[in-house]
Amino acid sequence: MLDKAAEIHRQMLVGGEWVDSANGETIAVENPGNRTTLGHVPRGDAEDVDRAARAAATAFESWSKVTPRDRGRMLLKIAEDIETRTEEAARLIAAETGNALRTQARPEAALAADIFRYFGGLASELKGETLPLGEQVLSYSRREPIGVVGAIIPWNAPVSLASLKIAPALCAGNTIVLKAAEDAPLGVLMIAEICQAHLPPSVLNVLTGYGEDCGAALAAHPAVRKLSFTGSTDVGKLIMEAASHRIVPVSLELGGKSPSIVYPDANEDWAVEGIISAMRFTRQSQSCTAGSRLFLHGDIFDSFLEKLVEKTSTLKLGDPLDEETDMGAIISEKQFNRVCGYVEEGVQREDARLVMGGMPPTSGPLSKGYFALPTVFADASNDWRLAREEIFGPVLVAIRWEDEREAIRMANESHYGLAAFVWSRDIGCALRTAHAVEAGWVQVNQGAGQVLGQSYGGTKQSGIGREFSLEGMLDSFTQKKSVTVNLGLPGPELP
Ligand code: NAI
Ligand code: MG
Repeated sequence: MLDKAAEIHRQMLVGGEWVDSANGETIAVENPGNRTTLGHVPRGDAEDVDRAARAAATAFESWSKVTPRDRGRMLLKIAEDIETRTEEAARLIAAETGNALRTQARPEAALAADIFRYFGGLASELKGETLPLGEQVLSYSRREPIGVVGAIIPWNAPVSLASLKIAPALCAGNTIVLKAAEDAPLGVLMIAEICQAHLPPSVLNVLTGYGEDCGAALAAHPAVRKLSFTGSTDVGKLIMEAASHRIVPVSLELGGKSPSIVYPDANEDWAVEGIISAMRFTRQSQSCTAGSRLFLHGDIFDSFLEKLVEKTSTLKLGDPLDEETDMGAIISEKQFNRVCGYVEEGVQREDARLVMGGMPPTSGPLSKGYFALPTVFADASNDWRLAREEIFGPVLVAIRWEDEREAIRMANESHYGLAAFVWSRDIGCALRTAHAVEAGWVQVNQGAGQVLGQSYGGTKQSGIGREFSLEGMLDSFTQKKSVTVNLGLPGPELP
């Protein structure tokens, strides 16, 4: 359990050993709910990346030959162990990310166990195909592992995102070097510890360090044969560039600025609650799928916003570890200042109407941490920076529409294409719009999170590839080999 007095010191997992960084330097991990130092982790750099990647490359030879069912069995045991420690994991996540224990951290820890269980059960599905080329030819394909996977994850859902890389990569027979985000490495290292108890050494390597000195070295390492990245679109471009030098396949799960389109007939409480959920306010909206552009029909613009403000105002902000808290703190000072910058800009605009929220309090308990208020700007323009850029904070912009085509045009006027939400009781109309919106995932009349089995991922600059599903594992973590055999050799001469 978390001991308030004692700082946590953790090491990285390299080649089956728990190690400090080669340079001996560390990174402090801050609790964003009260700005205290929670602990330290190694500041890994290129030298550590090299050790980890070489170890993973060596381990690949034997790991790739373990039968898939046996690999799956190990993942199932990991799932069980995570489940027995979900409360510990959840408290660690809440402390290091600022995500509220009840609404976010606990469900995240539970999801991590589910992810290992789901992929562990899919080990038998790494199947190939045969081609019907006639009696004289056997032509079949194999789903082979790629090799060493280099994975880089962000801090917003660190434990479930780490699990989403580790479980499918290992199930498919790859080995992996995963770099945790510098702002949230502790929960990931705990998952690594649980995994290591069930895996051969060097199959899983977990590094902690900054993007520039550790992440970039991983993306560029010659032993890495596949790159899987979740994070900002800007860094996604760097990963793709690094991959281009060696023609390494990449999966990218990047940012979003997802539209919610509300029709007049959805001017009801269930839709308001759905919008709050879609906006991920209880994750401080630090979610790539946050429905942060709210397109409201003109007829219901004011009455819908009134209900939205009333319901959103009931969210309780505060200590992430308090059971009563609905909404915790922003991850870091850097992100907090970024979010505040957008809010300040909105407040200063004469053509914007601040409907709720605004700049965070400078005194009282909330000023002790990085607490941003749920903020809504009305009569926003789709051209504003606030309506175009991923804020990654609880700032919602409400934009008016009258004509359906205009709403769809505005929704699609974005370089992102991750998620979208459509709200109407008229399902025909909702589906027409769902099909017209450019996004990898559209939800109608709900604002839920991803579920296992769903192939999740983005279009446009929101990314390449799919995760969360069997298809995602096969496409992202295996490569196909065709084998063609001539069965038509002349028979042996009979005596
Ligand atoms: P980031 O994209 O910089 O960080 C994500 C991961 O990439 C971290 O592990 C980081 O260490 C690593 N990284 C950073 N620079 C790298 C480089 N040059 N080479 C290799 N790895 C590198 O995101 P950051 O700075 O934490 O957040 C900035 C913005 O990114 C947010 O405001 C948000 O808009 C977006 N973001 C989106 C996420 C999503 O899930 N869509 C997740 C996190 C951030
Ligand atoms: Mg960064």
